[in-house]
Amino acid sequence: MTRKKIVVFTGAGVSADSGIATFRDADGLWANYRIEEVCTPEALRHNRAKVIEFYNLRRKESLTKSPNEGHRAIASMEEWADVVVITQNVDNLHEQAGSKRVVHLHGELMKLRSERNPDLIYDINEGWEQELDARGEDGALLRPHIVFFGESVPMFDPACKIVSKADILIVVGTSLAVYPAAALVYYVRDKQVPIYLVDPGNPDTSNIRNPLTHIKERGAIGVPQLIAQLKDELTKEG
Ligand code: OAD
Repeated sequence: MTRKKIVVFTGAGVSADSGIATFRDADGLWANYRIEEVCTPEALRHNRAKVIEFYNLRRKESLTKSPNEGHRAIASMEEWADVVVITQNVDNLHEQAGSKRVVHLHGELMKLRSERNPDLIYDINEGWEQELDARGEDGALLRPHIVFFGESVPMFDPACKIVSKADILIVVGTSLAVYPAAALVYYVRDKQVPIYLVDPGNPDTSNIRNPLTHIKERGAIGVPQLIAQLKDELTKEG
């Protein structure tokens, strides 16, 4: 059996069953915070304390959360397929579940970086708090290692290349509302590549021309079901 290349593209919904709020659902983060006040370069310049506090809270919360059955099922596929996870999430629940290849499109909560040098990145190894005046070794203030609205997405091009090699694309828990990330679904190699979507809501799939199966379930239920089915089909093929 040749191992299939499976790319899993995830959004906030994959972590919803771990108790982390999504962004655009009725109880989502953007119902309680204004994006312009916490997630833009202008906000960091003019309202630094609020931005740092917002990400401190996200980080503190994330330390109390664990991977769910969806994350675990995704990691388990590595036993029988070549898997890359491309996530819009800034938590590290895919890594905690055991996924080995995880691309973070929108950054990582547990990292900070220099405001001056984007390559000067620091892991937060202890606790959750970024001190307001923390500085890097270049003397510049540190900021959350997060892609803010209005900033470029450096991992988008590498992610497109990964998607273009996929035999199967699985999309989990994303409204497909934020670009460029949402455009990844159009980078599959050709129109035969099957796309599976696990999401209890209605992400905008109107422009997807590939064979699309929408499993309208929450991640912790729908992802293990889908992956059990794929495993069955793919490991039986000669
Ligand atoms: P959204 O909040 O836009 O969408 C969440 C998706 O998860 C929706 O389609 C829901 O239907 C689905 N969902 C809700 N509960 C679920 C569950 N239990 N299991 C599976 N799916 C569930 O989140 P994203 O699409 O990830 O960027 O948002 C994209 C980006 O917008 C984020 O990375 C973030 C945000 O602003 C930045 O902060 C830069």
